[in-house]
Amino acid sequence: MFRPVRGMKDLYGPDMAKYSYVIKNASKVAKVYGYSMISTPIVEYTEVFQRSIGDDTDVVSKEMYTFMDKGGELITLRPEGTAGIMRAIATGSLAQRMPVKLMYYGEMFRYDRPQKGRYRQFHQLGAEHVGEKSPYTDVMTILLTSDILSSLKIQDCKIMINSLGDDETRKEYVDAVVQYLSQHEGRLSADSKARLRKNPLRILDSKDATDIEICFAAPRLKSCFTSEAGRYFDKVCELLERSNQRYEIDNFLVRGLDYYSHTVFEIKSPHERDSIGGGGRYDKLLKTLGGPDVSGIGFAFGVERLMQLVKDDSLPPRTKKAAVIPVSEKENDAAMAICVQLHNYGIVTEFFHIGTMGKKMQTADKMGCDLALIIGENECAGDYITVKYMYDDINKKKEQTIDKNKMVEFLKYNL
Ligand code: HAM
Repeated sequence: MFRPVRGMKDLYGPDMAKYSYVIKNASKVAKVYGYSMISTPIVEYTEVFQRSIGDDTDVVSKEMYTFMDKGGELITLRPEGTAGIMRAIATGSLAQRMPVKLMYYGEMFRYDRPQKGRYRQFHQLGAEHVGEKSPYTDVMTILLTSDILSSLKIQDCKIMINSLGDDETRKEYVDAVVQYLSQHEGRLSADSKARLRKNPLRILDSKDATDIEICFAAPRLKSCFTSEAGRYFDKVCELLERSNQRYEIDNFLVRGLDYYSHTVFEIKSPHERDSIGGGGRYDKLLKTLGGPDVSGIGFAFGVERLMQLVKDDSLPPRTKKAAVIPVSEKENDAAMAICVQLHNYGIVTEFFHIGTMGKKMQTADKMGCDLALIIGENECAGDYITVKYMYDDINKKKEQTIDKNKMVEFLKYNL
């Protein structure tokens, strides 16, 4: 027997209902903030991710599904959505329409060690606001993440923020970090030793226990802020407070992707080990991919992680449905016509015409029908239909006849 590929799963039934609920609610909130939907291909040329996310990140160096296609092109299943969207802006007409606010959702792929809440194929739901750089935009983006959580009735989340400053900040900070970490080089993990000269800031994001302990006493980014970077971050914090948005500053938050500068943030839940969402500002990303030299900011939630936090009773009630059941083969044509008529009125209806009457009723019950319209010889000849209630405890097994002409009205009211 085949199983799904390790770290990947099928999505259907109640999980699919939760998935749709998350996407629908989040999209509705993003629309209120002025975002419109974008969908980009699931694969991009590998270089798109290498150039934007950074060669030394875990995502690019270890986790990408990369392969040569039949035409000999090196392509990668997208590990995240931002790079593809920037590629779309750089190569299409969106670059002429700045600023743009785009939201997206879809499958992402990372060859990570599968565990609870971490998959090799997962879904992200994200938004990118490109072409406007200001603390107001940053705060509006953070407020959007918070409103999405509220719309899903997810509580107790914490928004952690930090600033990576500008280029000058980063240069100075890299020097300070290299100087500090060099004193502990012997104890660093093999990955971190390799990164010490190539991309030392990635070490601050290491998941190795000894690396984490060493990094705890590393210099703080804040000490290297230029006055402009400091002012920018102070304004972000001030605006969050003015908006009554709760947040915490995490001086060690550097994010796992290389494209960030200035504001970065992550959303944590006490019920999930890893962050449920994260994002930040990127000053150079679009230019790196051949687009205009403008800054952007965005975020992505992990949809599976949001789904874990959505309570079942937050979901909208199940759609009720009717079963159309001909008593014998002779009534099949008339019954099907009734089913078609109900579909045209938007009434959720299923048609059961195979097997004995008992079997048809049983299948309708199993498929969650709430009431059955029984079409027998008498019903075909007369102007009435027999209705049998199926689920409802009070009405269970109750039968009644209704006027054929009032069938649609009856179902609209009773379903
Ligand atoms: P990220 O922090 O790499 O950021 O991923 C965002 C979210 O995707 C994570 O917080 C997590 O919920 C989810 N996620 C990541 N990996 C997995 C996995 N293996 N299994 C399940 N969920 C996962 C980004 O991807 C950036 N593109 C966000 C962004 C948008 N920054 C600016 N704009």
